[in-house]
Amino acid sequence: MTLEVLSRPGPIPPAAGSILPARRPRRNVLDLDDFSVAEIEAVLDTATAMKDVLRRPIKKVPTLRGKTLVTLFYEASTRTRVGFEVAAKALGADTVSVAAATSSVTKGESLIDTIRTLQALGADFVVMRHHQAGAPYVVAEEVSASVINAGDGWHAHPTQALLDLFTIRERLGRIGGLRVAIVGDILHSRVARSNLWGLTLMGAEVVLCGPPTLLPVASFCEGLPWKVERTYRLDEALDGADVVMLLRMQLERQTGGLFPSLREYVRTYALTEERLARARPGALVMHPGPMNEGVEIDPRVARGAQSVIEAQVTNGVAVRMALLYLLSGLPA
Ligand code: CP
Repeated sequence: MTLEVLSRPGPIPPAAGSILPARRPRRNVLDLDDFSVAEIEAVLDTATAMKDVLRRPIKKVPTLRGKTLVTLFYEASTRTRVGFEVAAKALGADTVSVAAATSSVTKGESLIDTIRTLQALGADFVVMRHHQAGAPYVVAEEVSASVINAGDGWHAHPTQALLDLFTIRERLGRIGGLRVAIVGDILHSRVARSNLWGLTLMGAEVVLCGPPTLLPVASFCEGLPWKVERTYRLDEALDGADVVMLLRMQLERQTGGLFPSLREYVRTYALTEERLARARPGALVMHPGPMNEGVEIDPRVARGAQSVIEAQVTNGVAVRMALLYLLSGLPA
């Protein structure tokens, strides 16, 4: 199959263009589909200022002193959970970490009862990851605390997409007009979905690449304001790419039979140094992590000069600080 256009440039749809009226501060971050360009730029600009805070000898300001951030995770995480905890502490907030596996969830407590309990205990921010798409939306209806989606099923991972946008803009100076190849297990990827919203809204061209069974149907891209293409051929996706974003093969979400074998996948789709040479000189190599080294990415590429994978993790702290600050509604 050759390159197929799934979505063409057009007017920004109401959902993407309207966001919250400027006068009303945002309370929740559930996905990027209700963000405007101006709001994304405000997050990225604020994150730049937060990076300055993190470069100081004492990496702490009292901005959110007296506030409490609770992380509630029903799935495993390292980067997102720790990133939020470090961000909250750097802003002077208190943090509490709840893992569903060691909470009263194991005694049968419902999500709603759990969330109401956390609010009764004083949570101002609830950062949650859940295996069920849409769970943070249900929670946001129940509590007055700010709810931040740290990943819901296959649906969305907005803070990952924001830190990806920040990293691209920091390294390449812009997002608009860039060509971004997203490669791998797109079907199961909440990172790809949120990045599609963020990248296209900011004017990047996106090409999705993977085996036919792991590439989404056209409806995946419905409503996107900018051009999105897909191809099953990695070389075609890499041609002229400014950014190559690899996705983890999510074997734990697959029920089997989606590609012939892992060896076949590696042979066809793993990003090697030779394949990377097809992208633009200096193209960024990104991965949200955790990586399956030797599956979707060769270890030499993961640690090579073009890789910004560790920078993504570091930038995640500044971006999450920016979000907490902006959600708190404090004056600039
Ligand atoms: N990228 C990401 O969400 O990583 P974690 O699962 O470690 O949080």
